[in-house]
Amino acid sequence: MTKRILSGMQPTNQLHLGNYLGALRNWVKLQDAGDYETLFCVVDLHAITVPYDAAKLAQSTREIAAAYIAAGVDPHKSILFAQSAVPAHSQLMWLLATMTQIGKLNRMTQFKDKAGKNSEKAGLGLYSYPVLMAADILIYKATHVPVGDDQRQHLELAREIVGTFNHRYGQDYFPEPESVVLEEGARIMSLRDGTQKMSKSAESDMTRINLTDDADTIAKKVRKAKTDPEPLPEIFADLDARPEAKNLVTIYATLTDKTGDEVMAEFAGKTFSEFKPALADVAVNHLAPISARMNELLDDTAQLDAYLKLGAERANAIAEPHIKEVMDLMGFWKA
Ligand code: TYM
Repeated sequence: MTKRILSGMQPTNQLHLGNYLGALRNWVKLQDAGDYETLFCVVDLHAITVPYDAAKLAQSTREIAAAYIAAGVDPHKSILFAQSAVPAHSQLMWLLATMTQIGKLNRMTQFKDKAGKNSEKAGLGLYSYPVLMAADILIYKATHVPVGDDQRQHLELAREIVGTFNHRYGQDYFPEPESVVLEEGARIMSLRDGTQKMSKSAESDMTRINLTDDADTIAKKVRKAKTDPEPLPEIFADLDARPEAKNLVTIYATLTDKTGDEVMAEFAGKTFSEFKPALADVAVNHLAPISARMNELLDDTAQLDAYLKLGAERANAIAEPHIKEVMDLMGFWKA
């Protein structure tokens, strides 16, 4: 069977360092390794599960596509597209919804986080979001899904849905998709609270570094990041009880492709007043070319749209025969 990768990100706000270190840079590695067919989508249908601005949605989708390309996704090697441009995602979602138990959806932590205290008022879209995510993956019969740690639970649900479908309708029709989670960077935390993940939806922009932040903004956010007065230890594991410190060292290590212990060898005994400027430098050097390339791409909307159109054609060419097969297996009338 073809080894096929599918992943996606929501066009809600800017992408941040967590998205980049937890997922995007891994997508590029996997694409370049050449062992998989790679599909990367901008999941715009997911973005409308929370209040959003219709006037900005299309441009946000282009911005995320530009970020993918700027970070190294090659629109010729990979299939790069907007989720809403492939109708089979939504079609399959309905079919899969009929075989997803609500008891399982009730356990999804992302829904609980996003719906907050007022879950009775949350939309059905937000609640059924993991079923659409399963459809995103299964419509391509993807075998591997590179994501950050926070998406593991959704992947597990997708695997359970596969089990139910295959059992009821067609032996081994869908492969069970495996999550591909990086060891380093899978969980980048907020700059203000080392127990919360860095997130697009956190209210304060000071909690995250966006891919498009300029050098001064990055330096300011790093300077103001929460830390403690202790010097850095010799061994990375000694940071386990200091979540904010551990997070900053993790960011430094992933950006420089070093292990935590290698970073400690450089900085042991130093305080954060010395470490933070070094971290800001590394982040700026890494992100500046990405945001410059993003801006170039966004200046040429026609070219960006052409990439997305090409990607949608290629994605539809895989998805359409699959939705027909699924409907056949499920016994629908056809002419
Ligand atoms: P989204 O848009 O919230 O995040 C995109 C990717 O970034 C990862 N990520 C992080 N990694 C490390 N540290 C963090 N603080 C951090 N925050 C986010 C996420 O794990 C994700 O890989 N449900 C998905 C989008 C989606 C999807 C799919 C993904 C929809 N359909 C099909 C894969 C396959 C989401 O909300 O990602």
